[in-house]
Amino acid sequence: MAEVKFFGSADMPLEMHKVKIIQKLNLRPIDDRLAAISEAGNNTFLLKNRDVFLDMLTDSGSNAMSDRQLAAMMVADDSYAGSETYYRLEAKLQEIFGMKYFLPAHQGRACEHLLAQSLINKPNMIVPMNYHFTTAKAHISRFGAEVAEIIIDEGLAVKSDNPFKGNMNLQKLRDLINARKDDIPFVRVESGTNLVGGQPVSMANFRDITNICRESGVISVLDASLLADNLYFIKARDEAYKNVPILTIMREIGSLFDIIYFSARKLGCARGGGICLHREDLMERIRELVPLFEGFLTYGGMSVREMEALTVGLDETLDMDMISQAPQFIKHMVDELSAMNIPVVTPAGGLGCHLNAREILSHVPQEKYPAGALAAALYIVSGIRGMERGTLSEQRNKDGTEPMAHMELVRLALPRRVFTLSQVKFAIDRINWLYQNRHLIGGLHFTEEPKILRFFFGKLAPDSDWQLKLAEKFKTDFGESL
Ligand SMILES: Cc1ncc(COP(=O)(O)O)c(C=O)c1O
Repeated sequence: MAEVKFFGSADMPLEMHKVKIIQKLNLRPIDDRLAAISEAGNNTFLLKNRDVFLDMLTDSGSNAMSDRQLAAMMVADDSYAGSETYYRLEAKLQEIFGMKYFLPAHQGRACEHLLAQSLINKPNMIVPMNYHFTTAKAHISRFGAEVAEIIIDEGLAVKSDNPFKGNMNLQKLRDLINARKDDIPFVRVESGTNLVGGQPVSMANFRDITNICRESGVISVLDASLLADNLYFIKARDEAYKNVPILTIMREIGSLFDIIYFSARKLGCARGGGICLHREDLMERIRELVPLFEGFLTYGGMSVREMEALTVGLDETLDMDMISQAPQFIKHMVDELSAMNIPVVTPAGGLGCHLNAREILSHVPQEKYPAGALAAALYIVSGIRGMERGTLSEQRNKDGTEPMAHMELVRLALPRRVFTLSQVKFAIDRINWLYQNRHLIGGLHFTEEPKILRFFFGKLAPDSDWQLKLAEKFKTDFGESL
């Protein structure tokens, strides 16, 4: 985002792109929305997009693509083996991370599967990480290992002014390595830590973690899915990197880690994924699995058109106008909501604006899924689809008990270059109304609960008729308005 000061109003985000293609949106009347959320079992993942106005579920595969990306798709080489498209992508990744090897995969969780299967090679292993991501944890657990979350204490504080809340606690990492070095298949660091509010990791922390790993011979892995936001925050919040080119920062990060994997649905604004590595032995171990689970080594389950778009998308990640757009919009939303005293995660992170459902719905106990209830309520009053990121997104323990999440958040993702400022202002307005009427919102309970990744397709019902009452109040206050 260019440094633009305004004359007549406070500073606000300014789009450094223009709209060339649009998709028509629907904002259905509130009674239709009530019916839609009920049919979806109060799970926003199960809403049909035709019933959604602003889709803030995720930034995964839903970022706007550039004219350059679309143009590149036309030159894709669709040879099964040896495609030129693959070599262009490989060269781009080698350029930005300085890593010799690249293995393609169809998306981020496929990389997690390949890493877990090839590196977790004995029972009772443990994977230290700053914080888990749902699919990463599910794959690690599937191969019998457990995760150890060793994020700094402030990472779990909803309100904070720590600029790098995604940092790992280095002492805890040292202690774990000292105690269980032989049981650690790899250390996983997640940039732009998803489940704690898109919070970044500092360069110093990247450096310290990887030094500790190197000294003790433990493999270091970076999940770079949300690296674009993290790069922006390194430049914006670390004085030492303010004037360092983004490419230099990426290459420094690439020089630190043994392995970098990413979801290209996020990094690079396309659809796909991949694993970059320095070490030949590790590459060979993982490579064996690619043709088995993903596809031949020069496409790995990705469409070649998406791979061309990804190559350009990665190149565009080197542009500050590009990587600053979403964080600036998120900051605007967080600042406006904070000014209204509405509890949100601070400081503003990447990925989206995160509402603190635990505090907003302090009258709804955690066993009744306050974040899920708030996400359903927000959809009813606005047509906005957010994502529950709280206890519903956890898995049950082996003994059937339910772990309560550290945070109960509703994530309102702002996919890159997708929404306009007036749409963000509409979201702020409806959240404000909902906050004023929060006492009307009740809890939820499961009616169908899948065993794995239950938040994707589990179904829930409201504990009472609170949703009808909420809709009635909306009609009283807004009349005929959608
Ligand atoms: C940090 C992180 N890692 C991994 C993944 C999984 O990527 P994918 O959705 O492409 O499987 C995601 C997806 O949201 C993510 O945010």
